[in-house]
Amino acid sequence: MKNIAQPEISDEEISLVSRTIKAKGFVEGKNARQLEKEFAEFVGTKHAICTVNGTAALHLALEGLNISPGKEIITPSFTFIASANTICFGGNVPIFCEIDPETFNIDPEKIKDLITPNTKAILPVHIFGLPSDMKAINDIAEDKDLIVIEDACQAHGARIDRKHVGTFGKVGCFSFYATKNMITGEGGMVVTDDDDLANRMRSIKNHGRGPKGGYYHYLIAYNFRLADPLAAIGLVQLRKLQKMLDQRKKNAEFIRNTIKEFDQIQVQKIAAGVTHGHYICAPVVDDKKYNVENVINKLKDKGIASRRIYSIPCHLQPTYLEGIKEWRWTKFVSYPDYSKIKLPVTERIASNHFEIPIHTGITKQELIYIQATLREIFG
Ligand SMILES: Cc1ncc(COP(=O)(O)O)c(C=O)c1O
Repeated sequence: MKNIAQPEISDEEISLVSRTIKAKGFVEGKNARQLEKEFAEFVGTKHAICTVNGTAALHLALEGLNISPGKEIITPSFTFIASANTICFGGNVPIFCEIDPETFNIDPEKIKDLITPNTKAILPVHIFGLPSDMKAINDIAEDKDLIVIEDACQAHGARIDRKHVGTFGKVGCFSFYATKNMITGEGGMVVTDDDDLANRMRSIKNHGRGPKGGYYHYLIAYNFRLADPLAAIGLVQLRKLQKMLDQRKKNAEFIRNTIKEFDQIQVQKIAAGVTHGHYICAPVVDDKKYNVENVINKLKDKGIASRRIYSIPCHLQPTYLEGIKEWRWTKFVSYPDYSKIKLPVTERIASNHFEIPIHTGITKQELIYIQATLREIFG
């Protein structure tokens, strides 16, 4: 329980990695192709394109869409910094939106207030594995002719009415970082139903090559390829993903039900028809009643890993308060003065959440111990 996250690796992953290396499969190859095929089937899209990590997946999606520099993309501030930074890579401007106090996901009503003639896209993040309100977001996008790019890096297995996240927008992006619901260590995936976009992204991730490969290059591009030994890990992980998701769900529900015993502590609200991916379980305390740092320290004293993962939301990160001033695109496009942005719900949730481990390595006995400790702290 010392680890907040813990990959579930068995002899199967080790064996396939070993066979791959023995066959000299070091670079992106047949494991990667198979992983793409099975991941596309898992989420239900026509195309899945693997990348070297989730940040590269977002970068690739945005490069694929080729949105003009200076255009604004609306995204939540309560997320991992990569959601925002990848918007900046091609000269686009992150516009930070408030979150919903019950789901901790981007608030569609607040998106409407931020749309300007310069807005080109919405980039919702399914935070902690809980799907954003994709119906409301897609309605706004349709009405205002905006592109939707889903950051599903935390949300493998998350669904709305059985439809997997990452398939609601034009393009969806996943991470296989070592803490995620399924891992390759470092790795990522982009999914889409759009043939042209998929072809463009396949070229951009491979030095602008055409489908035949070789040394003909058609686009200024990158190397975002996923090494085959890592794709091997992903293949085995994907085949046992549903089992791991079921375990995470059981663990998360046990903790969520325990938290519901206490006043003034809140868990993410899961609407009817929504399947949470249960990547992270991070309840939020009312700071009038509890000091979250004390809660985290008490849990740690009892041997239970805990942390405030996004204690500093993106708009308050040094990146956007200071770093942006020396960003190369700042010479060419105008960024808002991020220090003036006020997002009270985001700031409250960032300040007052604490993570509890729900990974598949947690035993029933450990869950009961966590429950007893939570009752001691909050009861
Ligand atoms: C919401 C979100 N977006 C993007 C990323 C970036 O993924 P990676 O770490 O694989 O580059 C992560 C990874 O933690 C994430 O949680």
